[in-house]
Amino acid sequence: MNPKKDLIGIERLTADEIYQYLDLADNFIEVLARPIPIVPALRGKTVLTLFFEASTRTQISFSIAAKRLSADVVSFSQATSSVKKGETLLDTARNIEAMKVDGVVIRHSAPGAALFLGQRLDAFVINAGDGTHEHPTQGLLDMMTMRQHFRDLKKLKVLIIGDVTHSRVARSNIFGLRTVGARVAICAPPTLIPLEIENLGVEVYNNLDEIIGDFDVVMALRIQLERQGTGLFPSVREYRACYGLTKERVMRMKAKSIIMHPGPTNRGVEIDPDVADSKKSVILEQVKNGVALRMAVLFIHAGGKIE
Ligand code: CP
Repeated sequence: MNPKKDLIGIERLTADEIYQYLDLADNFIEVLARPIPIVPALRGKTVLTLFFEASTRTQISFSIAAKRLSADVVSFSQATSSVKKGETLLDTARNIEAMKVDGVVIRHSAPGAALFLGQRLDAFVINAGDGTHEHPTQGLLDMMTMRQHFRDLKKLKVLIIGDVTHSRVARSNIFGLRTVGARVAICAPPTLIPLEIENLGVEVYNNLDEIIGDFDVVMALRIQLERQGTGLFPSVREYRACYGLTKERVMRMKAKSIIMHPGPTNRGVEIDPDVADSKKSVILEQVKNGVALRMAVLFIHAGGKIE
């Protein structure tokens, strides 16, 4: 694979490029199962995690992934940086790059922030979530998890439930799954469905109970509770009643279907606690796969070598 310098989104990846990330991530699962789960592939490289927004899963798994590849990791915290004194994103990144950083993993609230940096830095840039635009490594780790359960992604039927308009995770999954030929549907109140989403090749539904039994993968999105009272949905209680993954709804799902959620979950809103912790739920498998998938992404973009 001769990768582009940066990974900004899944939208412009080919099916071959997607499978190269997934195949390499599957190989790293084997590395992570070893008693000493470390390879020297990125020895001498330095990776910066530049997070301007909160994160648990993505920031930690990128740091673990880099360490498993023997890279040095530097973590940036907005709260204690000179951003607090008014330094711009570009100046911040350029100053850090001057200290010989090879790669930057950035999360930012502004769509386009990762692209902006990638066009201006020599270091490779990985988008760890830019506003409502994309979260490519989440999309790839979700596809990796789906492939572990259903070998052929082309035959998959995937249902994404919830706030698609504001979800970078939904966008990355839709781009990736459609590129490899999976069937993708979304289900949400009309106020949470972006205009002309059908142009991305997805089916659109509003009544979850009528369709939930038709899918192999059911993915609930986090309801952004800060949107309550903004008129996008009447109340958390009503959202759960119509779109929450409850035990009763899960009983209508296919026997071999799985439940996914990118996290963090709002238990009792988009997913009930007993469903999140049930056998159908692969939420912690997604998190586990995140390390191997991010190892693959760092390896490919840092020009890693197998020794
Ligand atoms: N899924 C995800 O991006 O989680 P974090 O916000 O905790 O990184």
